[in-house]
Amino acid sequence: MKTPAELAAEQAAYWNGPGGQGWLASYARLERSLLDIGKTVLAMAAARTGERVIDIGCGNGGTTQALAAAVGPSGHVLGVDISEPLIGAARAHRVSNATFVVGNAATHPFEAASYDLVFSRFGVMFFGDPVAAFRNFQQALKPAGRLAFVCWRKPDENPWGLVPVRAAAPFLPPLPRPGPEDPGQYAFGDPARVERILKESGFSAISIEPLDVPIWMGADAAEVVANAGRFGPLARAFADATPEQIEKAKSAIATVLKPHESAAGVVLPGACWLVRASAG
Ligand SMILES: C[S@@+](CC[C@H](N)C(=O)[O-])C[C@H]1O[C@@H](n2cnc3c(N)ncnc32)[C@H](O)[C@@H]1O
Repeated sequence: MKTPAELAAEQAAYWNGPGGQGWLASYARLERSLLDIGKTVLAMAAARTGERVIDIGCGNGGTTQALAAAVGPSGHVLGVDISEPLIGAARAHRVSNATFVVGNAATHPFEAASYDLVFSRFGVMFFGDPVAAFRNFQQALKPAGRLAFVCWRKPDENPWGLVPVRAAAPFLPPLPRPGPEDPGQYAFGDPARVERILKESGFSAISIEPLDVPIWMGADAAEVVANAGRFGPLARAFADATPEQIEKAKSAIATVLKPHESAAGVVLPGACWLVRASAG
């Protein structure tokens, strides 16, 4: 079994390498898919004028900018991400009341009892030792501080992710099969696990609510296929596949998505947890 340090090193290698590159290359499309979810979790977090906020796994800083606008010049947002290229892109936005650090949020030495809000949009599912990570966040919060994040539910509740991968898999080298508790996109799919992690790390008043949201995948099936393999599990499989295998996989994705085309584009169901908790 891998240690938390080994798991963190794997995540760092991925997000500083192909994961970070794929995220940046796909960001305009990803942001269109994630915008409504971001708005919902930002509304739930309700950052207020003058507050001090941490944005965990902030990526290239889309939500950090929104939080910085909400807290205003008298407040401050610290964006933390393990990926150097993504933090580079975040810093390029030059938000005056936000600073960014490259680091593992699980172990980053945050100033103790100093923050009002720990926030994340899909940035908290990648820790080798999640209890230690959330204890670190809990200790950074003031006693009246709060936690607000969004994470994905299980893969079978997220057809936008599962349908293309299932269609392509028979034509590709074996895809990674992470266990349900391994760090990754769906690691927080089980709400009982999320609750246990938060309780063990010292949070109280835990609320975990479902958010069902249609996910825009592209204007049509051809566009989704053209972008398939840029990011996520298919990117890893395409990297090891022959051109013939990739062609067959893309054709299978086109076939399975065609029936989902509409005037609004290709839209499949997505399912998240909206999670809130108090530090005290
Ligand atoms: C799915 S992306 C979300 C990015 C951003 N929150 C957004 O919604 O645009 C996940 C992010 O978590 C970051 N990440 C993964 N493990 C991390 C860790 N241990 N500490 C800090 N950031 C991490 C990745 O580099 C990546 O930017």
